[in-house]
Amino acid sequence: MAKRIDAKNLNIYYSKFLAVSEVNFTIAPRSVTAFIGPSGCGKSTVLRTINRMHEVIAGARVEGDVLLDGENIYGSDIDPVDVRRTIGMVFQRPNPFPTMSIYDNVVAGLKLQSGRISKSDLDATVEKSLRGANLWEEVKDRLNKPGSGLSGGQQQRLCIARAIAVEPQVLLMDEPCSALDPISTLAIEDLIQSLKEKYTIVIVTHNMQQAARVSERTAFFNLAGVGKPGQLVEIDETTKIFSNPTDQRTEDYISGRFG
Ligand SMILES: Nc1ncnc2c1ncn2[C@@H]1O[C@H](COP(=O)(O)OP(=O)(O)OP(=O)(O)O)[C@@H](O)[C@H]1O
Ligand SMILES: [Mg+2]
Repeated sequence: MAKRIDAKNLNIYYSKFLAVSEVNFTIAPRSVTAFIGPSGCGKSTVLRTINRMHEVIAGARVEGDVLLDGENIYGSDIDPVDVRRTIGMVFQRPNPFPTMSIYDNVVAGLKLQSGRISKSDLDATVEKSLRGANLWEEVKDRLNKPGSGLSGGQQQRLCIARAIAVEPQVLLMDEPCSALDPISTLAIEDLIQSLKEKYTIVIVTHNMQQAARVSERTAFFNLAGVGKPGQLVEIDETTKIFSNPTDQRTEDYISGRFG
């Protein structure tokens, strides 16, 4: 089932550059949390530390802990591949495998897992995941066609189907709608609302209306200055962040005086 996330004293580096400092937050299971803040403040960086994708970058490292239901995902006995299966990710640009069919895109992650899965089980997973991503009706008659033949919004939903096919407990989304038109954006937002019944969701967005529409809690990140590390200014109920934030910097950002 969906899991709680606790980040504790995160300091996140690219080689010697401290990109984000002293981040602490708690995210409740089956909730949607939005990360907002100006470009370069470290939203994507923090997101990638939640499923150990940060350390894939050469020279990148993390200090601090991320607990998933109390268990440290950076523990010495933890396999990062398992972490990434439990904590799925959807990227800013839809990135289906271009030569693979729609069907094979959905099961790509599953096939990396151990053991053979029967054709009927794969079929069932494909249908369930595409239904979960609200794409089934649009593609059910062309599952063997390339994923790259879908529209941008459909490709993004295909990537969401691929992410949920492995049954993660947390779903991280880095600006999943930034390449999409308003209709596809609303489709993804509706989908996020239904996914939160099963998953813990964190979404990075530059669209404050979107943050207000989809999230229960919002984290505002900021930069103290050029070359300074990003920091988490505050995290609170979304309604509070957008109506009566505690910190003046948040107020300045959401009212458009900055960023
Ligand atoms: N692969 C990398 N190597 C070196 N520095 C990086 C790398 N990725 C990000 N950074 C730096 O880390 C800081 C935070 O970047 P990050 O991409 O997390 O910001 P962001 O808040 O997601 O910005 P945006 O809103 O533009 O996506 C920036 O100073 C950026 O230049
Ligand atoms: Mg980013």
